[in-house]
Amino acid sequence: MEFQLLFTAFQAQPAHARWPQQRQLHECLRQGIRSGTLASGARLPASRALAAELGVARNSVLYAYEQLASEGFILASRRGSVVAPLAGRLVAAVPRPEAPAPRASLSRRAQNMPALPGSETSAAFAPGVPALGEFPVLRWRRMLDKAWATLKPAELNYADPAGETALREAIAGHLRVARGALVDAAQVFITDGTQGSLDLCARAFADAGDKVWMENPGYQGAVAAFRAAQLKAVGIVVDGEGMAPAASDWLRQRPRLIYTTPSHQYPVGSVMSLARRLALIDGARQAGALVIEDDYDSEFRHDGPPLACMQGLAPDAPVLYLGTFSKTLFPGLRIGFMVVPTALAPALALLLDRAAPRGRTADQRALAEFIVSGQFALHLRRMRRLYRQRRDALVAALAEHLGDVATVHGGTAGMHLALRLHDGRVDDVALSARLMARHGIMAPALSLHAVGLRAQPWRGFLLGYAQVPVQAMEPLVKKLAGVVRGGV
Ligand SMILES: Cc1ncc(COP(=O)(O)O)c(C=O)c1O
Repeated sequence: MEFQLLFTAFQAQPAHARWPQQRQLHECLRQGIRSGTLASGARLPASRALAAELGVARNSVLYAYEQLASEGFILASRRGSVVAPLAGRLVAAVPRPEAPAPRASLSRRAQNMPALPGSETSAAFAPGVPALGEFPVLRWRRMLDKAWATLKPAELNYADPAGETALREAIAGHLRVARGALVDAAQVFITDGTQGSLDLCARAFADAGDKVWMENPGYQGAVAAFRAAQLKAVGIVVDGEGMAPAASDWLRQRPRLIYTTPSHQYPVGSVMSLARRLALIDGARQAGALVIEDDYDSEFRHDGPPLACMQGLAPDAPVLYLGTFSKTLFPGLRIGFMVVPTALAPALALLLDRAAPRGRTADQRALAEFIVSGQFALHLRRMRRLYRQRRDALVAALAEHLGDVATVHGGTAGMHLALRLHDGRVDDVALSARLMARHGIMAPALSLHAVGLRAQPWRGFLLGYAQVPVQAMEPLVKKLAGVVRGGV
């Protein structure tokens, strides 16, 4: 902690100017503690260090510390002098100068931002949360230690805005093998997760007022990013084969960007058919649009053979492929990536050079090592097994307790499924709030995932199962069933 500013401001007040130094210091620290500026538990510097910092005699500091200790404001311990715990209770008693309420407020765009249901919680069934307790923290720490140990001082500087070469190469290698992508490391750009990638796509590849097609129902994180960039979201209906644009949409709602989750539609879980994928690529080419393929949880496919991504279906497909480590590793890592068509890579690199300094070199190197050493594939295999067991337990419990009033959709992949209630008039938002209030269950309502002006017929819940142990599944589903039946 630095005290120079605090002490100079105190000394500058005319009432204190003529006091002896030791009294100034004692009173300055006392006020700091009483007002909460110096919090309970904060450690004060050693007397010699504080004297040197403030340019005062060490004896003045010793005097001030002794006085404060005798008054009970600080405690002497082996760690040095520490602000006493009771000092915090004085804070409320000290009058604070009245400040006028700030007139500035959030912009209208920001105020209209949708909330991301479940994003901040680990409550049962919160979608998008992996089995955090299963992450191999020790191995990860070893990779981090190694990355830090080999970092040279010059590498603490701003890093390559496109990301660490080692990580871009590791991701390209993984995508070629595991996702059938047609990708070279030069096309891979590291971001702060998919949310960062979406912001970048919206800013780099569209202008304010442009239309972006989105699946309806769809991912509200993408709605937020596109709204912030002042794009117009057009909701396109979703069926069992994924996003289903009509011929009239191509004519009357010409898109600049098309956001889609073809491997596991968010939220309802359809898998886009090959015919639809090819038609979308074709349509986008003709319209001069770019498809944003959000491949957020495709590493977890529970039934059937793995499906290749859209990006790899045609050479130079007009596809911006988005991936994230939020599901495969952990959300707090905040590392994701974009794969852009070869022709766009140099322009994007130039834009990032101007606009987006990057860093966290050690994290990126550790992640590259995690992938190349095989730890990533090992973790994916373990999680795939675990999530499949949890998915099976959830599907069985739902069939047993809610099979007559609801149908499961989208359980073949990922970490969540959609439970669609047969009664389309149900107020799923009210039921979802009741589940949280009564049982601490986070089951976001499907109707909250509407996009654009067209209505969407899905009523029910999104249920994330990755972090729910098998034995907890049935008791939780019974609670869910109780609320659904009581509320229908
Ligand atoms: C559809 C979809 N895309 C992407 C993400 C991950 O985003 P991020 O990488 O910003 O954590 C999520 C998280 O829930 C998601 O549901």
